This record gives sequence, C-alpha cells and structure tokens, in this order.
Amino acid sequence: MLVTITDYGGIVSGTSVDKSILFEPFYGTLKTAPMIKECPLNLECKLVQTLDYGGSAEIFIGEIVEAYSEEQYLTNGLPDITKIKPIVFSMHDNTYWKIGEHLAPAFKIGKKFTVHRNKKTNKPEAALNEAARRTK
Ligand SMILES: Cc1cc2nc3c(=O)[nH]c(=O)nc-3n(C[C@H](O)[C@H](O)[C@H](O)COP(=O)(O)O)c2cc1C
Repeated sequence: MLVTITDYGGIVSGTSVDKSILFEPFYGTLKTAPMIKECPLNLECKLVQTLDYGGSAEIFIGEIVEAYSEEQYLTNGLPDITKIKPIVFSMHDNTYWKIGEHLAPAFKIGKKFTVHRNKKTNKPEAALNEAARRTK
C-alpha cells in the first residue's frame, strides 16, 4: 500500500492535487519540516544549501538533524532492514524492488582480502589471502 501512495505522490503535481492528505504528517525538533508517520524511518533535515545549475530543477542539500523510527522497526535500538522492508527504486526498469537476501557479514568478509606487492613488478596487487584461498 505504501508503495502505491508513494508512486501516486511522484506522478501527480502539488499544483493540481493537495498531496498533504496522502500521509499523516508529524513534526520533530525543527518544528518546520513535515515528516510521514506511515514511514518506518524518517530523517529530519535542515536545508543547508540550494544549488541552481540553470536547469528545470534545483538541488537541495540537507543536514540530517534527527532520525525517527518506532520500536517495531528496530533491533537493539538500531534500524533493522528486515523489519523496515525498504522500497528501492530502480531507474533502468522503472520498478520498485524489495531488498533481497542476506549477502555477507560486514566488517568481516573484507578480511578475506589482502593487498601485497608483486615481487617482480613491485606493483601493489589485491587478491584473496592464503586462508580464504584454502577454504574457497
Ligand atoms: C518513481 C519516481 C521517481 C522520481 N524521482 C525523482 C527525482 O529523483 N527527482 C525529482 O526531482 N523528481 C522525481 N520524481 C518526480 C517528482 O516526484 C515529481 O516531479 C513531483 O512529484 C511533482 O510534484 P510537484 O509539482 O508538487 O513538485 C519521481 C517520480 C517518480 C514517480
């Protein structure tokens, strides 16, 4: 359902439809930035810079001042991707996707890699380390 309303909000313009009724808003620390109650995770941003490159759109740079989520989406106080189930938008196929399977342990899988200097060329080379090659 959230994906349907989100897409609708991206299709229609606020000049023709009052999009503020699509979601229930709430306000945080800044008291001026509306956020969306239905979203598992909200990042409250303060406008830092507006970039205008002369095209049809401007780019807004925001500083995150606060993050909001409910207990049901957290594990040990941190956002849990399996509970949040984020919507991912892919441009080449204009499709919304779910996040897939667990891939690898962070801060650990990279330890299988090593950079060493080639004795003949003296150039640095990257490769799986001894232990990783043995268990491959
Ligand atoms: C899937 C999807 C992705 C979009 N991505 C962007 C984007 O990255 N940048 C952008 O400026 N507009 C993007 N849009 C278009 C804006 O959502 C759209 O211009 C805006 O809703 C128009 O509303 P407004 O006239 O009230 O600003 C996207 C729309 C959809 C449906």
